[in-house]
Amino acid sequence: MDNRPIGIFDSGLGGLTVLKEIVGMMPTESVVYFGDSGRTPYGTKSKETVTKYTFQNVRFLLNQDIKMIVIACNTASAYSYEAVKNNFDIPIVEVIEPGAITVARETRNKKVGVIGTPATINSGAYEKAISKIDNSIEIVSKACPLFVQLVEEGWWENDIAYRIAEEYLSSLKNKGIDTLILGCTHYPLLQNTISKVMGKDVKLVSSAYEAAKAVSRVIRENDMERDKKLKPVYRYYTSDSVEKFETLGSIILGKEIKTVEKVDIEKY
Ligand code: DGL
Repeated sequence: MDNRPIGIFDSGLGGLTVLKEIVGMMPTESVVYFGDSGRTPYGTKSKETVTKYTFQNVRFLLNQDIKMIVIACNTASAYSYEAVKNNFDIPIVEVIEPGAITVARETRNKKVGVIGTPATINSGAYEKAISKIDNSIEIVSKACPLFVQLVEEGWWENDIAYRIAEEYLSSLKNKGIDTLILGCTHYPLLQNTISKVMGKDVKLVSSAYEAAKAVSRVIRENDMERDKKLKPVYRYYTSDSVEKFETLGSIILGKEIKTVEKVDIEKY
């Protein structure tokens, strides 16, 4: 048994899609979430910068006495997971492999699409992870850098979101893919818009659910469940506006977030 919270971070609010699945699956676990909205987006930055930010985020979370780390950001997972794993002695779950497992299982015609930040797409992390599971799967990828800003702005289903999605996704539409992985934890919030553009025959896969399953497995295997008699505690931190986190975060989670604290992440 381990009553300490799970530590989760993302470049902003997108990782709340992962947190939501974790809370749904493990309702007695406590969580500390850090959203680095002050330095978002990560996906257009270099590997060195993302790794520096990732290490700072991990050090901040370790300061909160957590039992494990969830990198709820594809960009940080693609660029920095190996380095984090080699430098910190704590169980760590990333979000790329769980998504790759789902997409490999879901595709019928073995033609899949991957969308993500420029960093995630350029790293080739999904191609590597999917090919390791099934190397007969054909993969088409596309970076969609503006999607993160749309989400952080709360523009998920308006006309601007639709037009940007159309522009990005047009090159994927005639490739015959039957499954599309939303390779960024912000993208599930654009699901309706993306689906409208891609059509209902293309199945959208969010890695959030599979990542939560991986968290649950790590907790079970390491005998780290929280005492079921205790009430869960959720703490939220941001490197940007607390009000913005509370407002948008509450919409994403579908329940009110009241206790957000601002962090000076450069100190870590
Ligand atoms: N949620 C992050 C991801 O999954 C967004 C990246 C960004 O900040 O650009 O990649």
